[in-house]
Amino acid sequence: MERMLSAIKPTGQLTLGNYIGALRNFVRYQDDYELYVFIANLHCITVYQKPEELKKNLKDAVALYLAAGLDPKKCTLFLQTDVRAHAELGYIMACNTYLGELNRMTQFKDKQQKGETGLSAGLYTYPCLMAADILLYDANYVPVGEDQKQHVELTRDLAERFNNRYGETFVVPSPLTPKVGKRIMSLNDPSKKMSKSENNDKGCIYLLDDLNVVQKKVMSAVTDSYGELNLDKEKQPGLYNLFEIYAALSDTSKEELLKKHQGQGYGEFKKTVSECVVSELSKIQERYKEIIASNQIEDILNEGALKAQRIAERKLEKVERKIGINIHKRR
Ligand code: TYM
Repeated sequence: MERMLSAIKPTGQLTLGNYIGALRNFVRYQDDYELYVFIANLHCITVYQKPEELKKNLKDAVALYLAAGLDPKKCTLFLQTDVRAHAELGYIMACNTYLGELNRMTQFKDKQQKGETGLSAGLYTYPCLMAADILLYDANYVPVGEDQKQHVELTRDLAERFNNRYGETFVVPSPLTPKVGKRIMSLNDPSKKMSKSENNDKGCIYLLDDLNVVQKKVMSAVTDSYGELNLDKEKQPGLYNLFEIYAALSDTSKEELLKKHQGQGYGEFKKTVSECVVSELSKIQERYKEIIASNQIEDILNEGALKAQRIAERKLEKVERKIGINIHKRR
């Protein structure tokens, strides 16, 4: 069975973008791949987080992984810091990454260009940690949304560089983006990605949003003045985004959905999309409540950590030997 690995960084509540672009696909893949999924808590602190809020968000993220359908019997689910090898290989990868490579990473570049101040060194080097996350497990595939593809591509370059310098060590991973929903846009500004760091919550649906709020957010999504349903990403980006959400959640092509709804007004169409989103989220929220009440998270994380540690530690030792920093056999 080929191996797959991915993660989410819960710097806030998980969003519909996280769900459609990533989480939902992990659930599908767990039957066909040896899947490792973790909560990227080290990545969270690249930007300051209030400790109590962070704790809640991390726990909610685990519960949401499970509520979305990840099954700990089929996949390995763990917290990044429970496997110390991530941070250590992250440092080693940073020593094998050029500044020029990090300067090209669009996420950091965008923040810098927007004039954001107080950006941390951790944020700058985070692609090195992400590469370590992936390479520790010899993952063949990394399912991600479009915005993370560049980091997986850097991981490929770093793996190849390391293999060339020190001999075959890492599997070179491939990013896997979904056909539909690889970039869900903000509902109130379809030129921007739907994101938890967005200032305005109106454009972002959170998986744990009150369902009435979800409905309102979809109903007030920004569209256009053409007044006709079409699939034109350039001219009608807001509408296109609603089609994208609807298509992903209903597993139907956008073209088929357009045929079905052609001739409808925007209000009627938005109502259908909102019902579709609300129905999906209500199932997730129900399971989420059961999971939080059942206290199973602790056991699941402990079990996942043991499985992940076995693989990651073996790989880290191999790396240490290859680069020459390990000079004795540890007992
Ligand atoms: P993060 O937490 O920003 O996002 C988690 C996943 O959700 C996807 N995503 C989206 N997809 C479609 N539309 C959107 N609007 C949208 N917003 C987010 C992201 O592409 C991602 O797949 N660095 C990573 C976490 C990470 C990781 C890893 C991922 C750490 N180590 C190793 C894969 C492998 C991050 O910040 O993702």
